[in-house]
Amino acid sequence: MTLRTQVGIIGAGPAGLMLAKLLQMAGIESIIIENRSREYCEARVRAGLIEQWARDCLIDIGLGERLKREGMYHEGIKLRFGDDARGGLHPISFTKLVGKGTTIYGQQEVVKDFNTALIASGVPILFEVEDASVHDLDSKKPKIKFRHDGQPQEIECDFIGGCDGFHGICRPSIPESALQLFDREYPFGWLGILSESPPPDHELIYSYTERGFALYTMRSPTVSRLYLQVDHDEDIDNWSDDRIWDELHRRLHGARKLEEGKIVQKGITPMRSFVTEPMQHGRLFLAGDSAHIVPPTGAKGMNLAFADVRVLARAIAAFYKSGATELLERYSETVLPRVWKAQRFSWWMTQLLHRFPHENAFDQRRQLAELDYVAGSVAASTTLAENYAGLPID
Ligand code: FAD
Ligand code: DHB
Repeated sequence: MTLRTQVGIIGAGPAGLMLAKLLQMAGIESIIIENRSREYCEARVRAGLIEQWARDCLIDIGLGERLKREGMYHEGIKLRFGDDARGGLHPISFTKLVGKGTTIYGQQEVVKDFNTALIASGVPILFEVEDASVHDLDSKKPKIKFRHDGQPQEIECDFIGGCDGFHGICRPSIPESALQLFDREYPFGWLGILSESPPPDHELIYSYTERGFALYTMRSPTVSRLYLQVDHDEDIDNWSDDRIWDELHRRLHGARKLEEGKIVQKGITPMRSFVTEPMQHGRLFLAGDSAHIVPPTGAKGMNLAFADVRVLARAIAAFYKSGATELLERYSETVLPRVWKAQRFSWWMTQLLHRFPHENAFDQRRQLAELDYVAGSVAASTTLAENYAGLPID
């Protein structure tokens, strides 16, 4: 069967869902296809931090009701390093420094809110599709082929949104010679848990220790999201619940009391920086993780996905309004400078806070000096605040 729409979107993650919503608001039709089930997408534990502008945007587009009720607005973070009377805790207030804050609201909650709103308003999301592929990218009628409920299907559209994440099919469908890839792998990963216990502080604590980095964040006043730096090839089976708690206690250095709870989810995420240039080919436009990956330290992944599709939706809307292709042609060059700034910040936070295998005592002293500088200098902490709470977006 052939379906016809204006924009065919592959992937029902933050990028694809936000793209469909923004297009709908501009009166443009789309169909989303997704290879996982709705239940799987809505239970997948990933990012949790929303920049100020992204919060405002979700509220503006009518998706803020639960976010405002259940999201946890944060005025800043705490850096923890060294030892002093405060357990090495150094608060940095973003609201004071740059007049912006951040919101903790789990990615799967964002996904649930989008799914509910889109499906209720008639935007088709086809879950559990198989064997998706893209065709005729250089023509005015590109196609997406796939199987749904065992039947071969095709979407004929004007544009394709390649929102299918890092392991999707869209980026590999572009001829290798047309892309330049920029890549860095880190020699560590993050072991993340979700625990039914209150977080140790009402703000996020980023802790630098001799044993490695740890992050103490949350999903609600009674659910903690806790991360430990581990080796890049670490096996989760080596980490019993007792070992995880022991390490989380040690890396908090007594700065706060850490309550233990039932661990309801755990997993290891590798750390990588990656950018594709350009982010488009013919009528295929990549957005979010399909085009770039950041290490999670700067909490930028979901926010970048939203930022990309904001630009893309505007460019597509301009095309339907007047036939103008200029914004579409300039999509990559419009979004990439901000993508690279987020890459730089994510890399900077990562190298500042983690222990590297080949570092020596000089590197540790340098990291401590830099942390001390960031915590103590208005200029340096403003730089952190400005990037963390989200660089300007027009
Ligand atoms: P995705 O969310 O990956 O969405 C892509 C969608 O496409 C998925 O639903 C996928 O199932 C679907 N798809 C893939 N292939 C196909 C196909 N062939 N056909 C149809 N559909 C397809 N960021 C942070 O800031 N902090 C974190 O703590 C954090 N933790 C993370 C943990 C993990 C395990 C991962 C993988 C990512 C994490 N991120 C984190 C990054 C953040 O979640 C992503 O940046 C964000 O999900 C990007 O959204 P996206 O829509 O571009 O991609
Ligand atoms: C979360 C994850 C991050 O990587 C981060 O820097 C801040 C918060 C989170 O999952 O809450």
